Amino acid sequence: MTTSTRTKTDHLDSTDPQVLDYMLVPHRNFNLINGVHSPDEVDQIQNWEIRDSDIFVVTYPKSGTIWMQQILTLIEAKGDVTPNTEHLNAQRVPWIELIGSEKEFNATPSPRLRVTHLQYKFMPLAVRQKRGKVIYVARNPKDVLVSYYHFHKYAAMLETPKDFNDFFEKFMEGKVFGNCWFEHIKTWYANRDNMNFLYITYEEMIKDLRSMVERMCRFLGKDLTEEQMASVVEHSTFRTMKLNPQANYKTVPDSLLDHNKGTFMRKGTIGDWKNHFTVAQSERFDSAFQEKMWDLPLSFVSDINDVNSAT
Ligand code: PPS
Repeated sequence: MTTSTRTKTDHLDSTDPQVLDYMLVPHRNFNLINGVHSPDEVDQIQNWEIRDSDIFVVTYPKSGTIWMQQILTLIEAKGDVTPNTEHLNAQRVPWIELIGSEKEFNATPSPRLRVTHLQYKFMPLAVRQKRGKVIYVARNPKDVLVSYYHFHKYAAMLETPKDFNDFFEKFMEGKVFGNCWFEHIKTWYANRDNMNFLYITYEEMIKDLRSMVERMCRFLGKDLTEEQMASVVEHSTFRTMKLNPQANYKTVPDSLLDHNKGTFMRKGTIGDWKNHFTVAQSERFDSAFQEKMWDLPLSFVSDINDVNSAT
């Protein structure tokens, strides 16, 4: 299969994926991954024709993408779990930035559910004029950094970090796919009024998954019965998803995700950063947060004990 006709989800499925020369390739101040993304195709996304029924979940990596793929599919299927057992989450709700995505996007019947890690500037112009809907999921960035560090250790398409300190520096400098966490959230949030936009956090979902699913349903105009709602919530918990090979990427070949070195559904909690950050790294992160986020009304829960007092 040539690079131009392959999509990332094709090779997620393959038992004998090509070994590709994965590396970060800067494009318009954003790092793409060679072999996974094509700069030309990413540039075409802004011209995509958008339907009002299109739904885009936007995340910085490791912020709850697979969780949202799970929830959205379940909402759409009104709690029926059949689609969740047949296909990988990434196939049910694919990334728009992967090679070959446009053709498949155009051929998909409504409603089209998609995810992206791209920055705001790459999105279809129509989305930026209130067509379709956008759900932005943010997670406290210290836990994002830790989750991303572990993911780099077993994902073939990402460079294996020398150690945690090495990855900490790379993350702080934005030398990762997704680039600078601060810039990602700031540009999306600052432009929220241009879109049909819902902002939610990973920590709110940990705190009260049911309320968050209800909020998503209201935003999406979905009316679920009590039984359907209970099924969506039950099949979106960390415990259930960890046991579902499709919701946990267990079926992806080792040559892409080395399952001996890590697991996608790793801890699924708040505050694991405390097991990794030094005091100095934590203070440095906090001051970067103050410096870069002072003009946005956003705060994050970074301790599981604070979950009940969070707003
Ligand atoms: S990716 O690679 O960007 O698509 O990763 P992403 O799916 O955004 O993030 C993976 C982290 O989300 C956690 N996760 C969950 N936490 C709680 N409950 C549920 N249901 C859930 N589903 C996914 C997953 O465990 C990863 O976080 P860490 O901290 O590594 O455990």
